[in-house]
Amino acid sequence: MEPRLKRFAFYGAVLAGSLLALASAPSRRADDPAIPPRVPANFTAGWRFPAGARASFASHAMVASDNRIASDVGVQIMKDGGNAVDAAVATGFALAVAYPEAGNLGGGGYMVIRMADGRVAAIDYRETAPLAATRDMYVGPDGKVTGESVIGPKASGVPGAVAGMLEAHRKFGVLPIAKVLAPAIRLASEGFVVDTAFFRSVSGAKYRIENYAGKIPFFANDSAPAIGSRFAQPALARTIGLIADSGAAVFYRGSIADSIAAEMQRAGGLITKADLARYRPIWRQPIRSSYRGYALIAMPPSSSGGTTVTEILNILEAYGPAAPFGSAEEIHAAASASQRAFVDRNSKLGDPAFVKAPVSELTSKAYARAIAKTISRDRADPTSGLASALREGTETTHYSVVDPMGNAVATTTTLNDLYGSGVYVRGAGFFLNDEMDDFTSKPGVPNMFGLIQGEANAIAPGKRMLSAMSPTIVLDPKGQLLLITGARGGPRIISATYQVILNVIDHRMSIADAMNAPRIHHQSRPDSIRVEPGGFEPSVIARLREMGHFVFEQGAVASAASIMRVKGGYEGVDDSRNRGGAALGF
Ligand code: GLY
Repeated sequence: MEPRLKRFAFYGAVLAGSLLALASAPSRRADDPAIPPRVPANFTAGWRFPAGARASFASHAMVASDNRIASDVGVQIMKDGGNAVDAAVATGFALAVAYPEAGNLGGGGYMVIRMADGRVAAIDYRETAPLAATRDMYVGPDGKVTGESVIGPKASGVPGAVAGMLEAHRKFGVLPIAKVLAPAIRLASEGFVVDTAFFRSVSGAKYRIENYAGKIPFFANDSAPAIGSRFAQPALARTIGLIADSGAAVFYRGSIADSIAAEMQRAGGLITKADLARYRPIWRQPIRSSYRGYALIAMPPSSSGGTTVTEILNILEAYGPAAPFGSAEEIHAAASASQRAFVDRNSKLGDPAFVKAPVSELTSKAYARAIAKTISRDRADPTSGLASALREGTETTHYSVVDPMGNAVATTTTLNDLYGSGVYVRGAGFFLNDEMDDFTSKPGVPNMFGLIQGEANAIAPGKRMLSAMSPTIVLDPKGQLLLITGARGGPRIISATYQVILNVIDHRMSIADAMNAPRIHHQSRPDSIRVEPGGFEPSVIARLREMGHFVFEQGAVASAASIMRVKGGYEGVDDSRNRGGAALGF
């Protein structure tokens, strides 16, 4: 067929498919008995978010992300005939432009996909340790861990984001990649209007950015781009344009690889052209599990997210019916399940190419039943006593997408810290990650998230560092899409993800309440329950302390972005804990 005719036929088919889905979508969803009615939530008087808030509603398709401009890009792509994977990739590249604190080309991530025809897939585009990396590279001559895994050129793993997003598009996308990347190129070349959130974000990372090449675009006059000004990134526009023209090859073996390797050499980093040339994203079998009759589709290692969320939910299911939301009994059960699952996470999980991670055991119902029996009804157990009982053998961003056909994508991507290592690839216009800190720099020594990890996650050349990213899709008991969720926030990602799921399934909250509800976090060590300030009654905290839990209040527990199917369409929410995000749709 002549190319123009071919294109015409292609768009015709996409349009016809979309119209068909649009016509059938609302009636398919009306009065669906698989979505039990929502129950009003009650939050304690001191809690900062009111119960009963409204979510965004859309009849056909939706994107929920931490950046309104990026959500809008994803929505436009679907209006132009793209599917959820096209929209996720377009949103990902737009985040790299408009939300550079976490959106990225120089980082990595994970995508969980569930197509409306029932196919499921998970792609792992986590960074890898450079070939020159060594197990003790962050241990100084005094035996202490240096700060080099957190900031500066040695902190970066080999980026996977570009390869991963393009591979997801190759397999599932329906629009040409040039069309999918066009909005990000335009956004970078024409710029966007700087808002307060962007100004504050860049200003807050001055110490991280100003010693590297990003100083010129981000602190041209020693101050972050002014609120109300237009911020363009011509180098980044050129880079995304090259990717649109030549695919991921230009990033891993072409001129962008040259720029990354040159920046590493100048700054004293480890990533070489050989590292970039050998980088590959990996398709993996998603973890399939269930919680009280609902099905979960979650990310397997190299992320710990899906394994740990599944283990926690399985333990809670085995422990018994859920206690009322916000009660000491509910928090004790969730924290104790999380404490035990994190013991497993921190000691047993790592890159499956390097360690035999016991995922089937950790996610089995039988294992969960055995663990649930170790949780007493009214007494906390110290983490130190748990490891043997179990037969021991930041910044990130999440977005959720659903399209008019009912295809669903959950994506989490990260540079680790805000603006990653701070190292900016001059000429190419993006930051490199500081993901090496997610490895165990030294067993027994906490990383930037306070995680104390073990051998399974030790540094080795070419190895993927263990992640907590938890992009997750939940189906209702009839097998229909119910929820797309995930979060940012290091290990607290796991807590936010499983608690949004609990709130939707156990407490039948609306998605707005499920997202706004106060959260807790227990990562086994430190051996304590972190609770969001003001979120729980003082009597509940007192009762938890009586049980023997160490409870402390501190800041937000992660920030999620979720979409839930409701009668006649979808409701979506970007976390109120995050400023500048939006759930948008049509
Ligand atoms: N960098 C945070 C994580 O992947 O868990």
